[in-house]
Amino acid sequence: MASNNMTLMTCFLIISLAFFILPQTQARVLLSETQATPATGFLYPKAESTVLPDPSPFFAPSLLQTPLPTNSFFQNFVLNNGDQPEYFHPYHFRSSNSSLSLSYPTRLATSASISQNFTPELTISATQNNQERHVVSSFSDLGVTLDFPSSNLRFFLVKGSPYLTCNVSNPTALSISTASSITSLFPNAQRNKYTLKLDNSQTMLVYSSSPIGLTISNPSLITSDAFTGVMRVALLPPGSQDLEAVLDQFSSSYPVSGEAVFTGPFTLEYRWVKEGNGDLLMLAHPLHQQLLSVQDSNATVLDYLKYRSIDGDLLGVVGNSWVLKTQPIPVSWHSITGVKDLVQALPEIKAALSGDVQALISTPVSTTASYEYGKLIAKAARLALIGEEVGVKDIPAITKFMKDAIEPWLSGTFSGNGFLYEGKWGGLVTKNGAVDKGADYGFGVYNDHHFHLGYFLYAISVVAKLDVDWGMKFKDQAYALAGDFMNLNRQPDSSYPRLRNFDLYNLHSWAGGLTEFADGRNQESTSEAVNAYYSAALMGLAYRDTNLTDTASLLAALEIQAAQKWWHVHQGDNIYEDVFASQNKITGIVWSNKRDTGLWFASAESKEIRLGIQVLPISPITEVLFSNASYVREVVDWTIPALNREGVTDAWRGFAYALEGIYNKEEALQNVKNLKGFDDGNSLSNLLWWIHSRG
Ligand SMILES: *[C@@H]1O[C@H](CO)[C@@H](O)[C@H](O)[C@H]1NC(C)=O
Ligand SMILES: *[C@@H]1O[C@H](CO)[C@@H](O)[C@H](O)[C@H]1NC(C)=O
Ligand SMILES: *[C@@H]1O[C@H](CO)[C@@H](O)[C@H](O)[C@H]1NC(C)=O
Ligand SMILES: *[C@@H]1O[C@H](CO)[C@@H](O)[C@H](O)[C@H]1NC(C)=O
Ligand SMILES: *[C@@H]1O[C@H](CO)[C@@H](O)[C@H](O)[C@H]1NC(C)=O
Repeated sequence: MASNNMTLMTCFLIISLAFFILPQTQARVLLSETQATPATGFLYPKAESTVLPDPSPFFAPSLLQTPLPTNSFFQNFVLNNGDQPEYFHPYHFRSSNSSLSLSYPTRLATSASISQNFTPELTISATQNNQERHVVSSFSDLGVTLDFPSSNLRFFLVKGSPYLTCNVSNPTALSISTASSITSLFPNAQRNKYTLKLDNSQTMLVYSSSPIGLTISNPSLITSDAFTGVMRVALLPPGSQDLEAVLDQFSSSYPVSGEAVFTGPFTLEYRWVKEGNGDLLMLAHPLHQQLLSVQDSNATVLDYLKYRSIDGDLLGVVGNSWVLKTQPIPVSWHSITGVKDLVQALPEIKAALSGDVQALISTPVSTTASYEYGKLIAKAARLALIGEEVGVKDIPAITKFMKDAIEPWLSGTFSGNGFLYEGKWGGLVTKNGAVDKGADYGFGVYNDHHFHLGYFLYAISVVAKLDVDWGMKFKDQAYALAGDFMNLNRQPDSSYPRLRNFDLYNLHSWAGGLTEFADGRNQESTSEAVNAYYSAALMGLAYRDTNLTDTASLLAALEIQAAQKWWHVHQGDNIYEDVFASQNKITGIVWSNKRDTGLWFASAESKEIRLGIQVLPISPITEVLFSNASYVREVVDWTIPALNREGVTDAWRGFAYALEGIYNKEEALQNVKNLKGFDDGNSLSNLLWWIHSRG
């Protein structure tokens, strides 16, 4: 976007400013964030994409000069007509026809899926509706602001707020309509709080910064006097305590945005920008509840204030910032505790390795697709590392193979495909993806970037580890790949949006890109997401960049815990209904507003594929992802009967047997040795290495 010199100069200015205006600690944090993936200024050649949607109808002009989010919690608001809903915990919001609708969705759980229904319980607009589209005037890690300029309305939509907040900038008569009907509407003495009861048995509390004068116009419509100021709406959840008093107490402190700051190894801090008076009340989902350091945050958990959500019960937390801490995870090139039973293991692994290396280097690479190509070079990298771990000396052949395979993608000379940079949203596309939405699984419309690039980073890191000079030669190109989904920089002159895939409130990634879906973003493979952050952490090791390793390790740790919470199904943990949890040990696709058992490419009955896509690729980090051996046994027992179905391939069987190796090495070893084929990213060597390094 800007030239190298410009970038440096702007950074310098912003950093020096930061020192003057920010307290010391905050300035330090900004500094390290700016440098977490150092901007090298290198960009892949420019692409003219013919398939990308146009962001300009939705974003404020000033934002259009900056990289824009492509896999975010508010993506539906900036695609097509912008009128599909997005889920914000605990409310589902839809913006259409110059109005914002709120739903506290009801759930429908079956053995096949869990979904939430959007019903516009309340719809807010100016009475004189000017029929305009919303404008995204700002966005942050934890929220987005939608404006209806000619209606004088600005909505601060911040994830996890129990209140919907609206700022009315000029005297405006408001309409509040409901799909239900109004049972009663009572003001308090100051007429700055109304209690609204609906005939669906919901109670809504409407707060305003000054008297608002609400009256019932008809059974489904309330109108206000001309009003200027802040209006907030909260659903009163059922509970045994006086929750109305709690919501009253925190009604005048409202978040307008929120950032997640990487404050230290395995530590993330939420900092909301708030207005109004008093302390902030926000909601924590089950993973927040697990990670929240109450002491460091100076926050209080209100375990009696509970809202339901697709991700489990949300609890109230009072505090203006939260510190989230996760257990450190090991990021290592080799198996975490080493290969066991050396006398048996080493000859077996070495023999397999010699066969796998020979087969790999003697087969011409036929694919030009970024995903399959990435898997292939990562498979080669696994062989190199396994060789290193077991002390085999034929690494030069595999290193040469990897260099020959990777270099054309880095130097832009690969025929048939390659990486390009596009400036409309700010990021990488493939040559094929730039002209074909379906090519490379939608890489050109920002699907699956972390998956594809994760494999590339893995292979590049391994070669950079084995050959430092090669690593330095291609460092800029390598960092440009990492930057596409790992960039932490918030500065407008950055080339990529901040953390493209990672949802900093949900604490996991989204793979779905610029395609409108009623259920929001989605992600199928958590193991490939973990692989992406793990590989970025390895890249940090290869380039001795501890900032990158720290950031990527934290993201990997969070992605792992999110996978264990929402993709791995534990019956009785109160996340999913029993009708779903009793039949499924693992989900298919997790959507922001739905849980599916089916996959993009296979049916719910294909349990071996549902399991396999959450396991591949097998590497040292797999041990951390599947650290719960009782769960592993349950999910394998659940999968095994499906392995005998007609059409099941050994490629997928391999992943079930790999997990079996966690609790039954001998049987798993036998099963693996009988396999006749392997997934294109997997190999006999890799499975033998994995099973022999268990226990
Ligand atoms: C890491 O961040 C620190 C500031 O916190 C900076 O001084 C250092 O240069 C960064 N390292 C790299 C490799 O970017
Ligand atoms: C928006 O208004 C149009 C025309 O009145 C109507 O057909 C459409 O259903 C409305 N959209 C929503 C989501 O209410
Ligand atoms: C709300 O709108 C008023 C009038 O435009 C403005 O002065 C005020 O700063 C706004 N508040 C926030 C938090 O944006
Ligand atoms: C902790 O929170 C309480 C209540 O919000 C506040 O009065 C106090 O100043 C806070 N202490 C610190 C150290 O921030
Ligand atoms: C491990 O998985 C089992 C079986 O699903 C579950 O009961 C247990 O709570 C899990 N342990 C942890 C620490 O999550």
